[in-house]
Amino acid sequence: MVTSELSSTPLPSPRSSPISALDAIGAGLLVLHILGLAAIIGPFLFQVSRKSGWNLTVMTIGAVAQVITGIALVGVLQATKDPGTFSMVKVTVKLVVAIVVLALLLVARARQSKLVAAGQSDRPILPLFHSAGALAIVNVIVAIFVS
Ligand code: HEM
Repeated sequence: MVTSELSSTPLPSPRSSPISALDAIGAGLLVLHILGLAAIIGPFLFQVSRKSGWNLTVMTIGAVAQVITGIALVGVLQATKDPGTFSMVKVTVKLVVAIVVLALLLVARARQSKLVAAGQSDRPILPLFHSAGALAIVNVIVAIFVS
């Protein structure tokens, strides 16, 4: 009797503990991903009505964080979820948009430094600032509405 009870007890899956650790890492990465999104869009909305004198540092850190945490999230989700649980087309679109956001911010920062060093207004970077913020918002819309 005891022997049959023991033999019918399900053994823990050898993959259960690494998978749950990966799930926790995935949840942590998603938290960092949402904080990265806030770091881009928060300072953007806060400064959107300015005509010059933008501070782009936090937005740039957020853009770097989005690319790194996004790629890491893809890796974790591929390891833990069934194929097809998330869309590779969607994350590829997000990656391209996120790289453009980062590039716009890096170019804006470089131009801003030159203009300020020459004693001129940094107003010419306005389109770069607006495009970076708007494209980050586009990525939120893609994240939520594209399946
Ligand atoms: C400006 C850049 C980005 C923004 C604003 C953004 C926004 C978001 C938001 C709001 C979520 C949560 C919604 C959800 O869980 O469905 C999310 C999740 C996620 N993002 Fe991003 N993201 C950005 C860049 C990226 C990049 C570059 C990648 C990958 C290369 C990426 C991959 C993911 C993945 C894998 C998830 C997990 C949820 C899922 O889509 O299945 N993201 N992102």
